[in-house]
Amino acid sequence: MDKLIIEGGHNLKGEIKINGSKNSALPILVATLLCEDEFVIENVPLLRDIFTIKKVLEVLGVSVTIEGNTVKVDTRGAVGYEAPYELVKQMRASYYVLGPLLTRLGRALVSLPGGCAIGTRPINLHIQGLKKLGADISITHGYIDAYGNKLKGTEIFLEGPNGSSVGATINVMTAATLASGCTTIEGAAMEPEVEDVANFLIKCGAKIKGHGTRRIEIKGVKKLHGCEYKVIPDRIEAGTFALGAAISRGEVFLKGASASHLEAFINKLKNASADIFLEKDGFTVKMDKDIRSTDIETAPFPGFPTDMQAQFTALLCLSTGVSVVRETIFEDRFMHVSELTRMGADIRKEKDYVIIKGVPCLYGTRVMASDLRASAALVLAGLSASGTTEISRIYHIDRGYENIEKRLSGLGAHIWRQEE
Ligand code: UD1
Repeated sequence: MDKLIIEGGHNLKGEIKINGSKNSALPILVATLLCEDEFVIENVPLLRDIFTIKKVLEVLGVSVTIEGNTVKVDTRGAVGYEAPYELVKQMRASYYVLGPLLTRLGRALVSLPGGCAIGTRPINLHIQGLKKLGADISITHGYIDAYGNKLKGTEIFLEGPNGSSVGATINVMTAATLASGCTTIEGAAMEPEVEDVANFLIKCGAKIKGHGTRRIEIKGVKKLHGCEYKVIPDRIEAGTFALGAAISRGEVFLKGASASHLEAFINKLKNASADIFLEKDGFTVKMDKDIRSTDIETAPFPGFPTDMQAQFTALLCLSTGVSVVRETIFEDRFMHVSELTRMGADIRKEKDYVIIKGVPCLYGTRVMASDLRASAALVLAGLSASGTTEISRIYHIDRGYENIEKRLSGLGAHIWRQEE
């Protein structure tokens, strides 16, 4: 197993190109299962999760070729209907096969994804939504066993106790593209990744309106076809590198980043006293003042993204005041707190929030990555810490950031990978 070593105290400076969005690319690659044809998907990040979804598709009989950041998919071969536990346990998003398989084959057998480090993560809304479309679904021996020969459009309300669900919206929207009649999803997730998947489906011939709003309307069509499609930039990767610039008191141009996908985040970064300069094809983040404390509450889009909470917490550890960070989406998403505390942060965790009293500096030490965004928070803390930080279990970070040490080194960070 590899670990990351960071020698802190070097400001990030320069330009970094933001890769394609992982959370868009995954459901888009899976949605190719909807028809028998060829696809060219561009701007796909080369991440562990993408290689996992490649394996899932291959198990289902699909041919997937990766050339640089372009993925060629051919779904004309026989398509199986089972996504086994060995693959689903590696990545929850494998459940995205449920909608496309049901609507194309009328049959799907998908291992239950189980919990993960950031909470229980139920999938009841996915199942409720697909049942409303007429699927017959039971849970047996740890598998979602689904039949649905004649999916039929209807009105579906998809909101859960913590708001809308990105995954359930995408799963149900995808299944509805080939259902008979019209489907209306109320309480739909508005995240840019949902919009991106909808735009991909439209390019395949689907009839979808209202994506990017709380109400999505899908008029079922008989057949979809292959297409070429370019995935949007990854807003969470952009946000993480933006925080890298801020925490290291540097200045970085995030090439290709979409500021409109990050408004709530950018406002908070400005509150923390960073300067943001919007450019034609990205934005620059500069931090040359004291970090100001600010309060954060995560919320579905367009609110502050839960996927940026851990990384922003790392920044606030170094503020000149007291900040409160509340997590409203995933109840256990505070695994980074104890590790940041080991680096000298002053954080008190209450039920669903943490109180952070800024300290003048963090200290490098040995820490452990617990999940994807928590590991990114530790990398950020390491960039600013005095001395050397060693982060173990970094396979988590490889799930969401391509070659992080190389890309941060390109900006002047002293970071490298070492075998443990
Ligand atoms: C996606 C993202 C993840 C991000 C999350 C929230 C992918 C691959 N992952 O995850 O990075 O953190 O959106 O922006 O795109 N819920 C239910 N029942 C369900 C489904 C969800 O109650 O059936 C709840 C969840 O527990 C959570 C909330 O709804 O509290 C939002 O979760 P959801 O948007 O579904 O997250 P994912 O799609 O799994």
